[in-house]
Amino acid sequence: MSVVDDIKARLDIVDVVSDTVSLKKSGRSYTGFCPFHSNTKTPSFVVFPDTQTWRCFGACADGGDLFSFVMKREGLDFKGTLDLLAQRAGVKLPEYSARSPQHSEERDKLLQLAAAAAAYFHQLLTTSPSAAKTREYLAQRGLTAETIATFQLGYALDEWEALKSHFMGRGYTAADLLAVGLIVERDNGEPGYDRFRHRLMIPIRDSQGHVIGFGARALSTDQVPKYLNSPQTALFDKSATLYGLDLARKPIRDSGQAVIVEGYMDAIQAHQQGANNVVAQMGTALTEAQLKLIAPLANQIVLALDADTAGNAATMRGLSLARQLLPKKHRATSTSRGIAYEAHIEQEISIAALPPGQDPDDVLREGLEVWQQFINGAVPALDFYETLILGSTDLATPQGKSVAVRELIPIFREIKDDVEKVARVQRLARKTGLDERLLLAELKSKGVATPRPANRPQKQPEPEKSTVLTPEPVPGTTSSTANLGLEEYCLGLILNHPLSLAMANDILEKEGLSGLSVNDFRRGENKEIFKALQLWTVAETPKIETLVSMVDEVLERQLAVLASQWHRRPQPPAENINQDLSVAVLRLRLQNVIEQHKELTFLQREAVENNDTQGARHYTEMAETYGQQRKKLEQTRDALSLMGQRRAEANRFGQAL
Ligand code: UTP
Ligand code: MN
Repeated sequence: MSVVDDIKARLDIVDVVSDTVSLKKSGRSYTGFCPFHSNTKTPSFVVFPDTQTWRCFGACADGGDLFSFVMKREGLDFKGTLDLLAQRAGVKLPEYSARSPQHSEERDKLLQLAAAAAAYFHQLLTTSPSAAKTREYLAQRGLTAETIATFQLGYALDEWEALKSHFMGRGYTAADLLAVGLIVERDNGEPGYDRFRHRLMIPIRDSQGHVIGFGARALSTDQVPKYLNSPQTALFDKSATLYGLDLARKPIRDSGQAVIVEGYMDAIQAHQQGANNVVAQMGTALTEAQLKLIAPLANQIVLALDADTAGNAATMRGLSLARQLLPKKHRATSTSRGIAYEAHIEQEISIAALPPGQDPDDVLREGLEVWQQFINGAVPALDFYETLILGSTDLATPQGKSVAVRELIPIFREIKDDVEKVARVQRLARKTGLDERLLLAELKSKGVATPRPANRPQKQPEPEKSTVLTPEPVPGTTSSTANLGLEEYCLGLILNHPLSLAMANDILEKEGLSGLSVNDFRRGENKEIFKALQLWTVAETPKIETLVSMVDEVLERQLAVLASQWHRRPQPPAENINQDLSVAVLRLRLQNVIEQHKELTFLQREAVENNDTQGARHYTEMAETYGQQRKKLEQTRDALSLMGQRRAEANRFGQAL
């Protein structure tokens, strides 16, 4: 039994859900108001103890197992959920040491040291006479004692070896201090003196809340740089960290919006003022790794940038790339026709450019409403740049027209959505008075510029074989190896044919259905893997190594299993891969709908038995909707399967000739 199954066996989903949702027993199931959307009239949230699953029959149209519930409720990733539930179940997690043998133990020790250092600096700030001026400084910046405690701000003494001698006397070696970046290395490679001296210390935490590094602000004008950060260490990778995410994760998930500011102090001030969905990117341009941290949590990502940064060409290019990494999200919508067609919601990056000379700290100190107003005025990144460029060039002159085209067309070329792409080109044509056909030709002039997904090379590049993934299933891996279902089939297929996801989604969309989404998966592990796959498949060359680095270590084995199981199955012919995936998605959805239909029938019968006429009517109506959905799915599946067969026959016929 895998640890995941072990935990599931020891915990009752009803207990765990009851922590936050008040459930009413009705027959063999439990109902309540859905904690994930505003639901106050008819309880739409149901927990089924028999299958240990939950489902919202309302607006979220989501459901799953214990893990997916806790992931959603706590806004945690899979690993965080595993830690939490393992503790609750009293299950000891095995050491996951696939990446390097002493990885875990060594890392724990370094994490301990980093945490101890944060506590040491904090103690100095709050009690040491030498920190009196720094305390004054923080008070003058308007930070309260509570904020100082929440962010565990600290002070590094104005001495060369204060920290070093403190920790060397407490069971840590110079090598440990060096590894965490707390002391600097001398030219001869020997461990030297304290890196941080006479600075305001800001502990940086990962999204789990572990201290992994420090930002250290200068306290006197002659100190350079203004901020001295921890170097890259085994714990700390600045470009893959967002400051404040440990505190902001849940508010971001709850509000669906993440606000990214540039500076530490901006994020701290934001939280003090009650803007809890704010994180800081620590002075770097937004990286892919940072985006990956936040994309699964938020529909809208707002960058609160100072005027200079916002207007910067590098920022613009970065954002147009970042935008491509955002997966398309889908939402189920019940229409009056009963069939749930799905609407696209593009995840969007917006920009709120600050008034010149102000940073978020300043705006926030004017009050939360002022800040909120400012954030509400954020403009989608592309619109922002279009306005910026068009506003700064004289479109009446040939030179101006040329600049506008030269600057904007390359950005438009990267837009994934063809409709949007063409619409923007048309608008540019109108504004510049240039011929639309000319601009469209320009759009196609470089690289492969045929519409998505055909603009991908037609050959599906196989993901590179790698030694990171073990080809054979590892003994003792998840029990799902035994019963690989449709969820795993879809994942395995995408893993081995990364381009098939976009292609299959297109096939589905042509049929009026939505593309594969995380809501199609029930198992928490699979949801997590799918989220990573969504980002991974749009990469230029999806390499297995990248995927492995994108998922948590605990899921590596599941990935290996998915990859190897796929190769053991009879393979669909290459030309049918996309078709095959779309049919598999339909089968998966059908399986879910049938299950939901069954559940609803069951709920309806119970409502009748309990003389709950209102409930019974509600469930009957819903059962009908699902019945219609089922019909639509079945029809589409049959049509697509038939098409696949015809093509296969035609191929065989062609070969025979
Ligand atoms: P700012 O100078 O805008 O930071 O740099 P701030 O937080 O608003 O600083 P205060 O208000 O003057 O205290 C933005 C971010 O850029 C990074 C830091 O992460 C900082 O928070 N930075 C800046 C550095 O890493 N090094 C520097 O020398 C300066
Ligand atoms: Mn500032």
